[in-house]
Amino acid sequence: MKPTVAFLASLSLVSVMPAVRAQEEASLLAETRKTALPVLPKVVQAMQTAVQENGPVGAIPVCKEKAPQLLQEVRQQTGWSIRRVSLKTRNPATGTPDAWEARQLADFNIRLANGAKPEQLEVGEIVVAAGGQRSYRYLKALPVAEVCLSCHGPADSLSAELKAALARDYPQDRATGYAAGQVRGALSVIRPL
Ligand code: HEC
Repeated sequence: MKPTVAFLASLSLVSVMPAVRAQEEASLLAETRKTALPVLPKVVQAMQTAVQENGPVGAIPVCKEKAPQLLQEVRQQTGWSIRRVSLKTRNPATGTPDAWEARQLADFNIRLANGAKPEQLEVGEIVVAAGGQRSYRYLKALPVAEVCLSCHGPADSLSAELKAALARDYPQDRATGYAAGQVRGALSVIRPL
């Protein structure tokens, strides 16, 4: 049987679509990086200053309020959903990953174990929900730097005062025991398309 024109046209569409999608994903990635990433060094900087000036207990508000507030500003500018997630949360109410995020975080840990640099771990892709709604999802690893250890390091390295403050505010804290260079969590961006 001779293939119809419509059939041939649909074939070429199918072969063109992955290329179109790759191009769309590349420009979404570039734009998301440019918009969402500049806030990250600001958070680390604020953390460093606060720990130096006030010690870890006095610096808790930076990770608790200042970081979410800086992310809130980017959310307001863009209308995107932006938050921090982790496989081992301190605050499970805000930081628990969904299935996509949990899968990518687990993949970051595998890539790290295979020699990837933590600051290079990121992933972005267009996902289609069951109802057909498309969105662009992006996840960027937040590596454990020296300053993070003062509040996320091994439990026996934390002062009694800090442990008491964390236990009071975060009875379900699982975010200790980290070493420098590990993945503490990730910045997660969702852009409805
Ligand atoms: C002064 C103590 C302190 C320091 C230093 C600190 N954190 Fe945190 N971190 C916290 C607290 C407290 C929370 C819980 C915040 C909340 O209530 O949402 C938190 C939460 C987080 C979360 C959100 C997910 C979760 O577990 O709830 C991430 C991600 C995170 N920290 C990464 C880092 C990284 C990366 C560094 C170093 C650059 C760092 N933190 C340094 C105290 C700290």
